[in-house]
Amino acid sequence: MCGIIGCIGRGGETLDTLVHGLENLEYRGYDSAGVAVGGDDLGVRKTSGKIEQLREMLDSDPVSGTVGIGHTRWSTHGPPTDENAHPHQDCTGGVAVVHNGIIENYQSLRDDLTAAGHTFTSDTDTEVVPHLIEEELDRGATPEEAFRTAVGQLEGSYAIAAIIDGTDALFAARNDSPLVIGVGLDAEGTGTIDVTEGPYFIASDVPAFREFTARVIYLEDGEFARFDDGITVTDAEGTQVEKAVETIEWDAEETGKSGYDHYMLKEINEQPRALRQCLRARVDELGSSVDIDTVGDLSPSGLQFVACGTSYHAALYGARLFEQAGIPARAYLASEYATSPPPIGDDLVVGITQSGETADTLSALREAKRRGAETLAVTNTVGSTATRECDHALYIRSGPEIGVAATKTFAGQLAALNLFALATAEDSQTRRSVIPALRDLPGDIQSVLDNSTAAEIAEQYADAESFFFIGRRYQYPVALEGALKLKEISYEHAEGFAAGELKHGPLALVTDQTPVFALVVGDGEIARKTVGNIKEVEARDAPVVAVTDGQSDAELYADHVLEIPETHPRAAALLTNVQLQLVAYHVANNLGRPIDKPRNLAKSVTVE
Ligand code: G6P
Repeated sequence: MCGIIGCIGRGGETLDTLVHGLENLEYRGYDSAGVAVGGDDLGVRKTSGKIEQLREMLDSDPVSGTVGIGHTRWSTHGPPTDENAHPHQDCTGGVAVVHNGIIENYQSLRDDLTAAGHTFTSDTDTEVVPHLIEEELDRGATPEEAFRTAVGQLEGSYAIAAIIDGTDALFAARNDSPLVIGVGLDAEGTGTIDVTEGPYFIASDVPAFREFTARVIYLEDGEFARFDDGITVTDAEGTQVEKAVETIEWDAEETGKSGYDHYMLKEINEQPRALRQCLRARVDELGSSVDIDTVGDLSPSGLQFVACGTSYHAALYGARLFEQAGIPARAYLASEYATSPPPIGDDLVVGITQSGETADTLSALREAKRRGAETLAVTNTVGSTATRECDHALYIRSGPEIGVAATKTFAGQLAALNLFALATAEDSQTRRSVIPALRDLPGDIQSVLDNSTAAEIAEQYADAESFFFIGRRYQYPVALEGALKLKEISYEHAEGFAAGELKHGPLALVTDQTPVFALVVGDGEIARKTVGNIKEVEARDAPVVAVTDGQSDAELYADHVLEIPETHPRAAALLTNVQLQLVAYHVANNLGRPIDKPRNLAKSVTVE
């Protein structure tokens, strides 16, 4: 997501430290950058575009100070413009704030603040924070009290850092969004927070300051930190909390991957957080309603999904959701759609594209638009070409994905498509059964990540001749995706099939050298049929890996089991998929492949 850096105690090097910190966070992806420095006189410089542009701005119009904050923004509320870049300020310009996360109640706070006379200059949710602080300062609160009271009014996820004019201090708070303190080399103390001299750093991610220090303090949800002569950490009630100073083992080189060997593995592990962001403020507590402002008013009578690669598998899944709701829906490969376009009628045409820039998908969407269709982009990238050209946009909010192989964005697409179907096509009974399962997804995925034995299975079969994946209904797109992931990063031959199709040809390929991954959830008719398919391949001596919630007999016929928690069949698709992502990753790792940058492939393909 976005990146935060803050520092105090760096004297004349404050600004340099901030800009350098932002450069260290560039790997996360961003579309705007900015800094604020203070102490005596607060100055803010920010711009859409690259850090290089921010540097140019600072060269021609410098700022200086003894305390500061910086931010790389990756848009979620409002396009990537100069105004929407962080830091954000209050009406007086005396408060500057950077924020990661999503403030769920920002609209009502903004309405109240506007009614009280505050003027807003951006579309962001973040901007309410400096105005709330300003309100408290006007009431006579100290800077620290003002910060605490303002943050206390926020609902949602946040990592926030703020500086206030005339105050040589830095304030920070977190809830459900990472924030870590760096304790500089000059500061004393190793075991506890008994550190009295800076420099100190605050960041969303260790790489931002790793070159300056390896000593860190992790802030927990609900905690506040004040940095001035030392660091004081307090809980939500204001009680001081003793924090341990830990030493990071990784070197500066590795830190972009937060300790993971590859971005792909990091991104697989980021799925619980990415899904929380996707669902946040969109599904209600009672599980009975879904609220997405950008698509809530649509009521499609038919849908055509267009997409490529992994996004096409999400499209197949999305089409199944709407078909189940009784609305005709079909997924098309975008590259084929433009060359042989189907009758369009009143269908809504939905482009699924994590980048929002895939040429084939854009061309299919343009073709649909040319023929008068209403279009929707389901994407991860605010301000992308797809969002600019489509009538509507639904953001999956997965955060930037660096590994070429799509992982967390596929999960985000499936979750967002569920929300889209629930908001526009499905009845309250379906909502009540699906929403709780969606809410459980982050925890369920975490449990798959914590308990998966995919690494051992991958090691055993890394040299197999071919890998096959079979599944039915919602598990069919996952079977295709499991095979695509494996081919992309391991260069091994892999195919996914609708489980029922296996016997109509592909069975000829099945031998004891071709492991078959069978995706089986529930204990109904669909699961029983897939268990039948497992028996067919078992009879041909193929090693079988059942990816299952254990409700059917699949385990009885399988050589290995990759378990997932029991859940709604729609949510189970995201869980079996995590197991297959891990299989692909570990097979490729065993074979020593360059996992994050597979040969011949690009993250975003902008040619047809
Ligand atoms: C490329 C990538 C794939 C991706 C596809 C669609 O081929 O290598 O991983 O699934 O583009 O990308 P999109 O950004 O449109 O989802």
